Amino acid sequence: MSKLLVTGKNKLYGETFVQGAKNSALPILAASLLTNGENLIFNCPKLSDVEASCEILRYLGCNVKRYDDTMIVNATYVDSFDIPDELMRKTRSSIVFMGAVLARMGRAKLSLPGGCEIGHRPIDMHLKALKMMGAVIREKHGYLNCSAPKGLHGAKIALPFPSVGATEDIMVAASTANGTTTITNAAREPEICDLAEYLNSCGARVYGAGEGTIVIDGVDKLTASKHTIIPDRIVAATLMSCAAVTSSQITLKGVIPSHLSSVIPVFEEAGCRVICNKNEINFIAPSVIKSMKTIRTMPYPGFPTDAQAVLMAASSVANGTTVFVENIFENRYRHISELVRMGANIKTEGKVAIVEGVKSLYGANTNATDLRGAAALVVASLCAEGKSEISGVKYLERGYESFEQKLSALGADIKKI
Ligand code: EPZ
Repeated sequence: MSKLLVTGKNKLYGETFVQGAKNSALPILAASLLTNGENLIFNCPKLSDVEASCEILRYLGCNVKRYDDTMIVNATYVDSFDIPDELMRKTRSSIVFMGAVLARMGRAKLSLPGGCEIGHRPIDMHLKALKMMGAVIREKHGYLNCSAPKGLHGAKIALPFPSVGATEDIMVAASTANGTTTITNAAREPEICDLAEYLNSCGARVYGAGEGTIVIDGVDKLTASKHTIIPDRIVAATLMSCAAVTSSQITLKGVIPSHLSSVIPVFEEAGCRVICNKNEINFIAPSVIKSMKTIRTMPYPGFPTDAQAVLMAASSVANGTTVFVENIFENRYRHISELVRMGANIKTEGKVAIVEGVKSLYGANTNATDLRGAAALVVASLCAEGKSEISGVKYLERGYESFEQKLSALGADIKKI
């Protein structure tokens, strides 16, 4: 199992291009199942989670080829509706295939996606919504057997929580359903808008993405199209955290600053200068960052739960105390014990974490247990005294493309062993 070897305290400098968004690529790849013809998906990040989704597409009968940052997906000859357990378990987000396979094949058989490191990840909202659209779903021995004998039809769906995955699943299933589907209390993340843009470029009729209410008028069929994935706002937040803890000045290229409207103010409060141009962010950190008041994770446009771990790593060497409240997932503090091993002073009480900044962290051998936790350990190791060894790099590779190479190109002393 590969590890990352980091020697801390190097300043970063220069510019780096931010990869395409993992959480946009995954639902768009699933949605491509509904199309006939050849899709060109540009700016598609090279990630193990993306590769896992492509494996599922190939298993179902799609032709999927990658040419550098472009994924070519042809779903014309899809002939299966069952996704084997080992493929389903590779990435939790594979649940978004349920709506797509059901809409395309009229049936879907997939194993219940396991929980994961950050929580039990229920799918009740997905199941309830698809049933309201006419699906018959039976759960047996950890498998979901879904069928829509008369096809899916429109429905009025009120989400109890603006679930990103449930919103995406419904948007995809509703695109070719009979009639109109309305989603109220829909998720508003930029990745939802990106999925809507892709679906509409294929001939779907999705209105209001990014708002609380999304309306989808079902159409007969979708035709393959070309689409460029939006930049990954969480990778951008991670790179800013790396710069913030190493008193660095770096430029992020290919970003959309407005997607970071709840993250940038936190860095500014910490004393960083964040100069936003069209698709660029110039980030200048002070020698020591100040603590940020309270960071509460919320559905978009609130502070993103996916940036909580990396901001916590940054706040652990800030001057002062920062309070975190993790409102989205019930077990997303597993990086704390590893940060404490590096000298961080963090106490938790339920969903609240209190971080007392320390002068410096110390290099240690640490263990990543989830994707964003792994990123937090990289942030911490960049500013720690001495050497750190981070195992569990496979978690990092789920969401960060060639991350150690990008950091090394910016001046960090980091390599994969
Ligand atoms: C998406 O997960 C992202 N994953 C997550 O990113 C992200 O943290 C999350 O949205 C919140 O922004 C992808 O897009 C592939 P949710 P998702 O449905 O769709 C509960 C990362 O690090 N819930 O918005 O699973 C759920 O348990 C990953 O890149 C139900 O109770 O998130 C959670 O507490 C991690 N029932 C809350 O809602 C349901 O049917 C938000 O989940 C669905 C969700």
